[in-house]
Amino acid sequence: MATPAHHPTEPTGPTAPGGPTGPTGLTGLTGPTALDAGVLRQAFGAYPTGVVAIGALRDGAPVGFAASSFVSISLEPPMVAISVARTSTTWPRLAGAPVLGLSVLSHGQGALCRKLASRAGDRFGGTPWRATADGAVLIHDAALWLTARVGPVYDGGDHEIVLLELLTAELFPGVEPLVFHTSQFRELTPHA
Ligand SMILES: Cc1cc2nc3c(=O)[nH]c(=O)nc-3n(C[C@H](O)[C@H](O)[C@H](O)COP(=O)(O)O)c2cc1C
Repeated sequence: MATPAHHPTEPTGPTAPGGPTGPTGLTGLTGPTALDAGVLRQAFGAYPTGVVAIGALRDGAPVGFAASSFVSISLEPPMVAISVARTSTTWPRLAGAPVLGLSVLSHGQGALCRKLASRAGDRFGGTPWRATADGAVLIHDAALWLTARVGPVYDGGDHEIVLLELLTAELFPGVEPLVFHTSQFRELTPHA
């Protein structure tokens, strides 16, 4: 595999082609760091994502949680994936639903996202949502709505990698998504 120009294993010091910090002048703050949960959380948080609310009706009430692990997988057949913590108490209830709703949260929905991840309280209270005929729960004012069936599930360490087979999509092109980065909610700004 090619070594990125800023990789810390490049030669450094007086003999390095570009000087003490390597050819590009770029180094990490600490050099390579042993992996522990804190370091990994920071590392994973350096990668910006959107956030998806995943929801379904169970016993007539909305059930759901927020997930930033959403990733597009396949056009044919249409599939996305999420990774779900094995400790999740909500996922086993969602996994039994015939159809799930996925709402890509929009730029003003950071507080809602925290609520959808909270362990206490009514996650959907005070939030406008709708249910489809087959029980998928969708959040109003989102940037995108998808509905999906749960597909194959794969081992992902302390998470499960869940493929979701898409059924429908409803786009809201004018609505800007919420961005999650370094544990903060952010908004997109156009590149200058
Ligand atoms: C921004 C954000 C992203 C999250 N992404 C995921 C995720 O991708 N997978 C996951 O299992 N939990 C994720 N969570 C945590 C869940 O939303 C929820 O807090 C967790 O499932 C615990 O609740 P539960 O026991 O009801 O499942 C995320 C939380 C936040 C705030």
